[in-house]
Amino acid sequence: MQSSQQIEAAPSPPLNPLAITEELTPLPQLKSAGDTQVQFEGQLSRPLRLHEDVRTGCGGQTWPAGMLMGKHLLRYQIDTLRDARILELGAGGGLVGLGVALELEMMGRQNNKLLITDQEEMLQLMRTNIGLNQLDDSVDALILNWGEPLPEIVVTQRPDVIIAAECVYFEPAFPLLMQTLKDLFELNEEAIVFFCFKKRRRADLQFVKMAKKAFLVEELYDEDRPIFERQRLFLFSFRSPKAKAEAKKNPAKKDAKGDREEAGRNSPPSLDVKVKM
Ligand SMILES: C[S@@+](CC[C@H](N)C(=O)[O-])C[C@H]1O[C@@H](n2cnc3c(N)ncnc32)[C@H](O)[C@@H]1O
Repeated sequence: MQSSQQIEAAPSPPLNPLAITEELTPLPQLKSAGDTQVQFEGQLSRPLRLHEDVRTGCGGQTWPAGMLMGKHLLRYQIDTLRDARILELGAGGGLVGLGVALELEMMGRQNNKLLITDQEEMLQLMRTNIGLNQLDDSVDALILNWGEPLPEIVVTQRPDVIIAAECVYFEPAFPLLMQTLKDLFELNEEAIVFFCFKKRRRADLQFVKMAKKAFLVEELYDEDRPIFERQRLFLFSFRSPKAKAEAKKNPAKKDAKGDREEAGRNSPPSLDVKVKM
């Protein structure tokens, strides 16, 4: 199923988060190690506690796309997430996945452990943050290197919701991430990927082009869009190649009101993608 072995492994980005910037954008502030609390602007019923430490990788601190993604998911997608089998890619310290897990636990969810994944260097930090929030019963952390065969536990889980925040910043990793997304859609054609990143380099938009060739890419409705677009933050859903083919066959007879009622009050309709590049 997975042709991922054929892709030559590219090194992941250097551990230094400064490496993800370019001259166009101001450098992010590197945080020193410590604990912080996040509530996604009031979307969480109780604060998420996070230990941050960038010594093992750039995922060791929170990033703008992760903050936006967490807020968006909690605000608009909670009905989709409630019973979903959720997998997070490039989770870093677990900002988004743990925020979602915390709220779902508050809502009484007990089934389907949420999987947060990253490279080996981030495993300990993910586990620390699971522990800090007493989420051991609802979240597992594991290693998932993009472009490599999916871990057995993921194959068994067949995730139907995939979260990826701030995973577009290192061009050699684009084909690896694409391969992992393709593998996940092969595993489950009904899956949806929630995808958010901040554009720092022109090359980042190459990833969107690759995704649009392979998947059905739509902009997600969010009333904050005018604000975050100005900050060059992109927020999409991706659906499988099969969904893309179907959409081509039956060009959307989009009835906004109908979509909204079907999706639930917190899920306004997705919009056809018109990416301002
Ligand atoms: C900028 S951080 C984002 C962390 C978090 N999602 C957030 O939004 O705050 C990107 C994450 O992707 C992970 N990553 C980069 N290349 C990867 C690869 N080849 N396989 C798996 N994870 C990778 C990094 O380790 C890092 O934790």
